[in-house]
Amino acid sequence: MNRDHTENFSARLEATAQAVASMLENLLSETPAAGEIARPGHLMAAMRHGVLNGGKRLRPFLVIETARMLGAPETAALRVAVALECVHCYSLIHDDLPSMDDDDLRRGQPTVHVAFDEATAILAGDALLTMAFDILSAPETAMPAEAKLVLISQLARAAGVGGMVGGQALDLHAERVRPDETDIVQLQAMKTGALLRYACAAGAIAAGADDGVVARMTRFGEIIGLAFQLADDLLDVTSDAATLGKAAGKDAARNKGTLLSLHDAKTVRLRLGGLVAEATALLEPFAGEADTLRQAAGFIASRES
Ligand code: IPE
Ligand code: IPE
Ligand code: MG
Ligand code: MG
Ligand code: MG
Repeated sequence: MNRDHTENFSARLEATAQAVASMLENLLSETPAAGEIARPGHLMAAMRHGVLNGGKRLRPFLVIETARMLGAPETAALRVAVALECVHCYSLIHDDLPSMDDDDLRRGQPTVHVAFDEATAILAGDALLTMAFDILSAPETAMPAEAKLVLISQLARAAGVGGMVGGQALDLHAERVRPDETDIVQLQAMKTGALLRYACAAGAIAAGADDGVVARMTRFGEIIGLAFQLADDLLDVTSDAATLGKAAGKDAARNKGTLLSLHDAKTVRLRLGGLVAEATALLEPFAGEADTLRQAAGFIASRES
């Protein structure tokens, strides 16, 4: 990747992050929406703390860039992207709780349960999860009803017991019962892979792509999802809290089941490279239209935070 390409990519990621943040800012206002009774101020403040705090917004970026590659305008995909980011932010708030990973720092700031309290953090996560489905199902998410239903149903599956939440349960279990390699790949495919897989699938569905293209992009998301968690695990070992905006060195300290508990960093890095190559190969039919997604796959492996 030459310098111009890298700069272009960063500018695009930043522009998407801004568009996502500005829609989230509006959705997280204290004014009740139609049908709501009231929005408790301290709960809204906790939700805002857990959402409007930076974040790479990579999942929204993947939704929007997949849709764009397939010819859909950004507006069609933005609300889907924002709904997914709500689920992701909820997952981080709960992931950091004392009963889960027990972390004090997230995106360079105190975690929600530290800045507020544990009950408020749990409720902020709950409210963000339901808000995601509110955003997707609302009339403002303008697309054919059939596509919308598929997006809603697939988000429920990606986020739930057979996806992210199930993966989090396996991740916690693996702290106590040593997982083998197959267990680790499965828990990572679920806790992290499921939402990245959804991001790419959803971009294709929002663009009205045919089944073959949706399947291809779903597989692309699945592979970069695995790559994403491998990179996260490597950064936990090789980086520091100031760079990451979250604690480093915590996976070994908490006896987490990562591939780095079985292999050295060099082996894991090689595997990461293999996944990026496999993902990139899936983009071949889209030729130059897929340049940004190709760079996104590279970014996942080479990112520093
Ligand atoms: C962190 O996700 C949690 C994992 C799934 C590894 P990100 O690295 O995307 O976190 P933000 O949203 O940029 O803070
Ligand atoms: C998080 O994995 C996966 C989620 C579903 C949030 P990690 O526990 O490794 O994420 P970080 O390192 O705390 O961001
Ligand atoms: Mg965790
Ligand atoms: Mg964690
Ligand atoms: Mg981690």
